Amino acid sequence: MVSYKTLGLVNSRELFRRAVDGGYAIPAYNFNNMEQLQAIIQACVETQSPVILQVSKGARDYANQTLLRYMAQGAVEYAKELSGGKGIPIVLHLDHGPDFETCKSCIDLGFSSVMIDGSHLSFEENIAETRKVVEYAHQFDVTVEGELGVLAGVEDDVKAEKHTYTRPEEVDEFVKRTGVDSLAIAIGTSHGAYKFKPGDDPKIRLDILHEIEKMIPGFPIVLHGSSSVPQDQVQIINANGGKLKDAIGIGEDQLREAAKSAVCKINIDSDGRLAMTAAIRKVMCEKPEEFDPRKYLGPARTALKELYKRKNIEVLGSAGHAYDQN
Ligand code: G3H
Ligand code: 13P
Ligand code: ZN
Repeated sequence: MVSYKTLGLVNSRELFRRAVDGGYAIPAYNFNNMEQLQAIIQACVETQSPVILQVSKGARDYANQTLLRYMAQGAVEYAKELSGGKGIPIVLHLDHGPDFETCKSCIDLGFSSVMIDGSHLSFEENIAETRKVVEYAHQFDVTVEGELGVLAGVEDDVKAEKHTYTRPEEVDEFVKRTGVDSLAIAIGTSHGAYKFKPGDDPKIRLDILHEIEKMIPGFPIVLHGSSSVPQDQVQIINANGGKLKDAIGIGEDQLREAAKSAVCKINIDSDGRLAMTAAIRKVMCEKPEEFDPRKYLGPARTALKELYKRKNIEVLGSAGHAYDQN
């Protein structure tokens, strides 16, 4: 059993309280490899933003959760080095934890925050599973995110055709009976690069968000599936041999609006994938003689860093909040 506190990580409690009070959201960026981790840390140090490093099931399968935990520990030291010793607040979070055992193994390994995703269960089963994780996690001051409602799109290889929006009338009971620290909700965001179809009205249901906020005032809310799918990146990919058709994301203006409310964590992964892929495809097409991975992973890392700096400043509003005191 390793406590995240000995690794220099923090849980999300204080960060969320400040974010709700300050009208901004903490970035939750997924990482699977060194270049993504470097880009996230560089972006957040340079914008003085707190950050949540997320580890998904895909990341655990691809890179191994023990290795990813050690990389996050290294990221704490790396952030200090980049910032002249001060560092930034870093949360290591399990994204979409499927069950109690997975959450427990991450907590025991040194994660400071976990999500138990019981959104596919019945209301009562979701409460029971989430409560079990909370009881274990809180013994070690690890924070827990639960979820109510189902996002459309692909999640852990399961495809939901339609959104099942979170029901505002259920959130108060869920939060009270589970003891969760934050709640992920479904209001029309979805995972991946194909969030809307051409001809759809690409809007999220901010009205449902506001209803939910009335039920649990000031309680930390999380938005998954919040990539905006920048069209300039899609064009670069397609101009360099890619085939992404009709990829449409969430408008950044809507996310900025949500971040001003009790939404205090915004999950972004797909936009980073697009930025890296665009940079790599460009090198591959323009310099076919290159075969040193650093020559294409380097530009991909720079593109990711620039994207996440801009997100922190313009969309989440988290820039400059690394050292907030109250
Ligand atoms: O929740 C979805 C994230 O983008 C992670 O996806 O399991 O393919 O890494 P992944
Ligand atoms: P995107 O696919 O929209 O980036 O969402 C990522 C996410 O929700 C991770 O949990
Ligand atoms: Zn998600």
